[in-house]
Amino acid sequence: MRLSPERMARFDRDGFLLLPGLVGAGEVAAMRREIDRLGALDDACVVRETAGGAARTVFRVHERDGATASPPFAAFARTPRALGLARQALRDDALYIHHTKINMKCAVEGTVWPWHQDFGSWRFDGIAEPRLVTLMVMLDDADAFSGCLWFLPGSHRRGRVPPRWDKSTAYGFWALPADVVREACAGGVRPVAVAGKAGDAALFHCNLFHASGHNLSPQNRWQAYFCYNAVANRPADVDDPRPDHVRSRNWTPLEMIDDGAVLAAA
Ligand code: SIN
Ligand code: MN
Repeated sequence: MRLSPERMARFDRDGFLLLPGLVGAGEVAAMRREIDRLGALDDACVVRETAGGAARTVFRVHERDGATASPPFAAFARTPRALGLARQALRDDALYIHHTKINMKCAVEGTVWPWHQDFGSWRFDGIAEPRLVTLMVMLDDADAFSGCLWFLPGSHRRGRVPPRWDKSTAYGFWALPADVVREACAGGVRPVAVAGKAGDAALFHCNLFHASGHNLSPQNRWQAYFCYNAVANRPADVDDPRPDHVRSRNWTPLEMIDDGAVLAAA
């Protein structure tokens, strides 16, 4: 899959692209079966809402080793639809994955992600440049009721804003200062709801302002995130680095494989 020059220009202008129907129904079903399996594991890569409670996030599904290794997710991460788009958006063929995660914002109870830039915290991982993109894939239908993502168009062009440590979530989070978000919306720029069907996707820049609300609906909102970085932009050493499942040290360039590999791996 190649993006036209017009769509590349839109990505550069808005900081994101919506990609309806990127993942087929059979592939979504295979990925969902994997999440059922992985969410039941007792491992550091599976973060729960409460001890012993529902899984909130499953990390590191793109590698071929480790407790949360998943052949369908590993295959998808290397397809032209995923890796190919990331290469084009970053204008670099030598990419690796900084991390992958499945956010399982569960029905009624799943909580918010405050406004933030991913590079706000990734800079603290020792990554020098904002040369990362994330591909988000919906594995449930998502809308404002179920806590879909919201993007603020063009906000990535402001560059990285020093984040503040937000204690309003149960987990703590590097969030954008509230006055910066207010100011960014002041000129009439409205956030875009990233609503859609299972199988729809979005590609977004690591400095894009984004957030999501509480899942008030009776349906889960499962979404997968594949975060690509240029190998040349791999992290420098930092004191007390985060673990491998959030700050990968596998900087081998990813090899592209066929789109059909996802179903073949299921
Ligand atoms: C994120 O931005 O890291 C996650 C947001 C979400 O899953 O709603
Ligand atoms: Mn984010």
